[in-house]
Amino acid sequence: MASFKIGFIISVAVTLTSCAPAEKGNAKDDARLLSFLATISGYSAIDLEDNGRIIRESMASIPVDVPAFYPDFAYFYEEVVDGALKLRQVIVPFIGEDGFIHASQYNFTGWQDAEIGEFDVSVLQKLSREDFYTSRECDLVLTEIKKGIYMGNLPECESIIEYIPNFGTVWTCTSTGFINYRNPELNPQEDVPIIMHKDFRYPLPDSMLEVVPGFEDPCA
Ligand SMILES: *[C@@H]1O[C@H](CO)[C@@H](O)[C@H](O)[C@H]1NC(C)=O
Repeated sequence: MASFKIGFIISVAVTLTSCAPAEKGNAKDDARLLSFLATISGYSAIDLEDNGRIIRESMASIPVDVPAFYPDFAYFYEEVVDGALKLRQVIVPFIGEDGFIHASQYNFTGWQDAEIGEFDVSVLQKLSREDFYTSRECDLVLTEIKKGIYMGNLPECESIIEYIPNFGTVWTCTSTGFINYRNPELNPQEDVPIIMHKDFRYPLPDSMLEVVPGFEDPCA
C-alpha cells in the first residue's frame, strides 16, 4: 500500500505559461477562486471496508493551466477506486450569480490515455474547448465558511440512473470529508462521513499566482 505510485507530470505545465490567463474579470473573484484552488489542491487516499474487503480510494486535485478555459482557472482531478481509474476530469471553478463558488466537472477526449497516476497534465494545454464535455447538473456548489474551509454539495454524476446522488462535502487544507445524502437508495451503512487526509499538496502554477498579485495562501 505504501508504495502507491504518484508520478503526475506537472513540471511542464509550470514552465509553459507565457500565454497565461492574464486578463481576468474581477480581481476579488480571482482571489476567492485562487484561495479555493489552494485549499483543495492535494493528494489523499483511504482504505474503506466493503463487505469485508478493503478497497483503496484515492483522489488527486492538481491546479493546472488549461488554455481552453482561459481566463478561468482549472484543476485536474483523478479518482481511483480499488485499482481502477474512476474519473479523470478537468474542473473549472467560477463564481455563480448566487455568489457561491460553482465548479463544473469536465470529461475530456483522451482521458483514459495514461496509467493511473501518470497522466501528463501538459497534454491539457493542447486540447480545445470542443474536447471537453460536461453536464450543468453535475456542478459542485461550495462556499467558504472560514478561511481555508469550504463546504458544499457534490453531485455524483457517474451514478446517473434516474437520479443523481449527492454528497455533502467539506474541503480544508489538510483533509476532505464526504457524506452521502439526498440519495433515494441510501444505504444506512454508508451513512457515515468519509474523511480523507491529504498526504501532500500541489503548488499553484505561477501563471495563476501572477493573476492575483500578493496572493495570500490560506494554507500557508
Ligand atoms: C464523465 O465520465 C464519467 C466516467 O466515465 C461518467 O460516468 C460520467 O457520466 C461522465 N459525465 C458526463 C457529463 O459525460
